[in-house]
Amino acid sequence: MPKVTIDGFSIEVPAGTTILNAARMIGGDLVPPAMCYYSKLEGSGGKCRTCLVKVTKGSDADPRPMPKLVASCRTNVMDGMEVANVTSPEVLDAREGVVEFLLINHPLDCPICDQAGECHLQDLSFEHGKVKTRYEFKRRTFEPIDIGDKIKLHMNRCIMCFRCVFVADQLTDERVHGIMNRGDHAEISTYIEKAIDNDFSGNMIDVCPVGALTDRTFRFTSRVWFTKPVYASRKCTTPGCCGKTTLWLKGDTVLRVTARKDQYGEVENFICNTCRFDKKTKSDWTIEGMANIDRKSVIGQNHSDKIKNLSNSVNAYDSKQKPTPPVKSDIK
Ligand code: SF4
Ligand code: FES
Repeated sequence: MPKVTIDGFSIEVPAGTTILNAARMIGGDLVPPAMCYYSKLEGSGGKCRTCLVKVTKGSDADPRPMPKLVASCRTNVMDGMEVANVTSPEVLDAREGVVEFLLINHPLDCPICDQAGECHLQDLSFEHGKVKTRYEFKRRTFEPIDIGDKIKLHMNRCIMCFRCVFVADQLTDERVHGIMNRGDHAEISTYIEKAIDNDFSGNMIDVCPVGALTDRTFRFTSRVWFTKPVYASRKCTTPGCCGKTTLWLKGDTVLRVTARKDQYGEVENFICNTCRFDKKTKSDWTIEGMANIDRKSVIGQNHSDKIKNLSNSVNAYDSKQKPTPPVKSDIK
């Protein structure tokens, strides 16, 4: 069990754990943000650089610091390693730069984007973004592509995190979409513009950190913060689907069905398209209670009391080894 210290907080973790996951085991404000890593998707991470940290001591065996900032989602801890995240001005400066890069081509259309309120890039920009852009050139734009009647692709908003491609690769039988071209011309597209219609394709919507992939059955029906998220379940017969979801209600109307998400905005279990798109009546579901919204999001604002009480109930890690998560004021 190597021991790692992150921003002054130490934890022993199983060998092979990444710095990011070690930080998530400690929890709280020292956890680096992650825009492309997704713990449920094998091979994800290493694309966006938002999770950069400074390794100030490599290990007990070799205490030299690492010469450059490293991606915490792709760097394993070593015994005795010391890491600086929010305590390092260099890391915060680099993160600001990464956000600036991510926003170079991203349209600032939050007021009309369905992802607003649950967008990881919006939260990241709020914490690390600059007020103004220094970029003077035209933003990259793409012609709209129709990828079917359930999922809307808005390529101008894509940050090339590859998560949707991993979903298609790992969850669906026949992958029909991927990244085409290279560099500035790279884009998510379907091969011969084929509609994505296999059972688990809707999960791409849930893993997309921005508004590039949204639910066509929900688009423009309501801002998410005007809806009431509740946990619900049904006996789903689709192999591989857990039937446990979050319903987004307005009164008794089910506006949207999504998978349940943990405190890092990752789905707990993937769900099938039947649950997501075809079960839009409250009587299809057994309601289990208020959903846990644990992100710094406006969604929590209308439901604050219940959400606060539930805030730590969903955690991907063993709570027994988890010390009280530090907040910013604890981190010196
Ligand atoms: S469409 Fe969304 S999930 Fe797919 S690469 Fe772009 S940002 Fe990532
Ligand atoms: S989350 Fe680590 S590089 Fe994207």
